[in-house]
Amino acid sequence: ENKKIIFSGIKPSGDLTLGNYLGAIKNWVKLQDDDQYECFYCVVDMHAITVNQTPKDLRRRTLEVLAIYLAAGIDPEKNTVFIQSHVPAHSELSWVLTCNSYMGELGRMTQFKDKSSKGGESIGAGLFNYPVLMAADILLYQTELVPVGKDQIQHLELARDIGNRFNNAYSDTFKIPDGYVSKSSAKIMDLQNPEKKMSKSDENGNGYILIMDPPEVIRKKVSRAVTDTVGKVNYCDEQPGIKNMINIMGTIRGVEPQQIVEEYADKGYADFKKDVAEIIVNELKPIQEKVNELLTNKKELEEIYKNGAQKASYVANKTLRKVMKKVGF
Ligand code: ADP
Ligand code: NA
Repeated sequence: ENKKIIFSGIKPSGDLTLGNYLGAIKNWVKLQDDDQYECFYCVVDMHAITVNQTPKDLRRRTLEVLAIYLAAGIDPEKNTVFIQSHVPAHSELSWVLTCNSYMGELGRMTQFKDKSSKGGESIGAGLFNYPVLMAADILLYQTELVPVGKDQIQHLELARDIGNRFNNAYSDTFKIPDGYVSKSSAKIMDLQNPEKKMSKSDENGNGYILIMDPPEVIRKKVSRAVTDTVGKVNYCDEQPGIKNMINIMGTIRGVEPQQIVEEYADKGYADFKKDVAEIIVNELKPIQEKVNELLTNKKELEEIYKNGAQKASYVANKTLRKVMKKVGF
C-alpha cells in the first residue's frame, strides 16, 4: 500500500460551528472515498486544555465532536477516528520534540503572541508549547498532507522545521508533511462581522451558527446577518456579508457563486436569506438527529473510539519506538 496519509483534527474547546463543518469536516468526508488517501481524524482534546476547561464540559464536548464527525459521514471503517488523549504516544513524542524546539521559534508564533499579549506572567506554558504537540500529532502518523486553514500554516511550517531538525540530527525518522488546501473549502465568515472568520471562540453568539443550533435559532441568526445598502445579491468584496452567505449556500449545494448570483438577480436580501437559512437547516438536520442518537446510547460511540485508539496506537507506536531508540532511551 502506498497511500498518502492525511491527519486532521478539531479541538473540543467550544461547540463546533458551521465554519468547522463546511471548512473541515465536510471535506474530510470527500477525502475518505479517494483511494489515494488514508485518513486519521482526531478529536484533539489535549489541545483544549491549553485554556481552562470545566472537566465535565470537556468530556461532553469531546464525545459530541466525535459524534459530529460520524454523523457528518466520516466512516470509522474507512478512516482512523480517535480521541487524542487515548493515544499516549502524542504526549510522549511531544516531550521529545519539545527538547528539539527553540524558545525563539515558539515565541514567534503569531497565535501565541495574540493569545498571550495580555497574560503577563500567568500565561499558560501549554499555550506556548501547543505547536509542538501539534507537530507530534502530525509526525507520529508519517503524515504527508495536513488540511489546514490559513491560521494554521505557520504551525505546520514549524512542524516541518522540527521534523527536519530531528531527521538531520538522528537520521531519517519522520515524513515531512505538506499543507493541503482543498479547492472546494470555503472560509466561512462571522455573520455579524464578515471581516473575520466564524469561530467557536467568538463572544458574539449571533456571529456564528453552531452545528447543533436548532432550526429556529439558525433562521434568527441568518435573518439578523449583516448585509449592506446595495440591495442586490452580488459576489464581491464590497458586499462581504452577502458574499459570505453566497459561499455558505454554494458550498452546501456544490454550485459556483455565479450561479447563485444569477438565480437571485431579481430577488431581495430577505428572500435570499430565507433560502440560505433553509439550506443550512436542511443540511444540518440529519446530522443533528444522528448526533443525538449517538449521544443517547453511548455504546456504539464507545466501541468506535476504543477501536480508533487501537488502530491509531498501532501506527503511532511504530514511529515512537524509532524515536525512543534514536534519542537513546
Ligand atoms: P475555531 O477557530 O473555531 O477554534 P479550529 O481552530 O479548532 O476552529 O479549527 C478546526 C478546523 O476547522 C480547521 O481545519 C479550520 O481550518 C476549520 N475552520 C474553523 N473555522 C472555520 C471557518 N470559519 N471557515 C472555514 N474553516 C474553518
Ligand atoms: Na480514503
